[in-house]
Amino acid sequence: MLADFSYSIMSQQELFPDSAQQGPASDERRSRSRLGLVITGVVGGSLVALYAVAAPFVAPALRKVCLPFVPATTAQVQNVLKVLQSRSGTLVDIGSGDGRIVIAAAKCGFQASGLELNPWLVWYSRYKAWREGVHRSTSFYISDLWKASFAQYSNVVIFGVPQMMDQLELKLANELPSSAKVVACRFPFPTWVPESTEGEGIDTVWVYDAKTFQSALNSGKTRNTSLENKPNPHK
Ligand SMILES: C[S@@+](CC[C@H](N)C(=O)[O-])C[C@H]1O[C@@H](n2cnc3c(N)ncnc32)[C@H](O)[C@@H]1O
Repeated sequence: MLADFSYSIMSQQELFPDSAQQGPASDERRSRSRLGLVITGVVGGSLVALYAVAAPFVAPALRKVCLPFVPATTAQVQNVLKVLQSRSGTLVDIGSGDGRIVIAAAKCGFQASGLELNPWLVWYSRYKAWREGVHRSTSFYISDLWKASFAQYSNVVIFGVPQMMDQLELKLANELPSSAKVVACRFPFPTWVPESTEGEGIDTVWVYDAKTFQSALNSGKTRNTSLENKPNPHK
């Protein structure tokens, strides 16, 4: 029995020679290595968290068409609301950013939705809508605009970039009901003829009537290209 016990002590000392050394020097070595582990954990964790937050903001720049997060100005939001003041029903902001247009539209009585690729912006928009008391009349979806259908919306708002507007023209012309209105912020659609404009400079918005651009598409006045035949350039 005694022999077994001394064998076990020997094995411990052989396996963990550090633990056999006592005294302030080894205590200090141990606490330094613990501190090293904590610092490595904190730095590693911070880098992972930074990556998780930053990646969705950087990802749009890596796509063929770069549509970064640039929030609408206050004047731009006011112009959107002004041109839609006689309208009601459903509204979607395509690429809704921090949700400012959706929330402002909900306050004017619309059942307003936002489609947004960046999950952080969607979570922030939901929080903001709740804080401003319009969570019941707003919905925010983490979604790629090129994979979504807009068939259910009677009012569409888009603050896009020129490189995507021709492809979006085709998608919206094919999907929207003929009663729909489309509002383009800052950059107009390339072939549609607007029924009105509001504001100036970077705050300009253009209003398009679906009946007009769909009949132009059907009569061949604009390109009559089916989306199904076109490769999606936005991947
Ligand atoms: C110019 S910002 C407009 C933000 C907002 N509509 C506003 O006016 O304040 C464009 C937004 O579209 C988002 N976005 C980029 N590519 C997207 C995609 N494929 N599908 C959905 N949203 C996208 C970006 O993350 C960005 O928030």
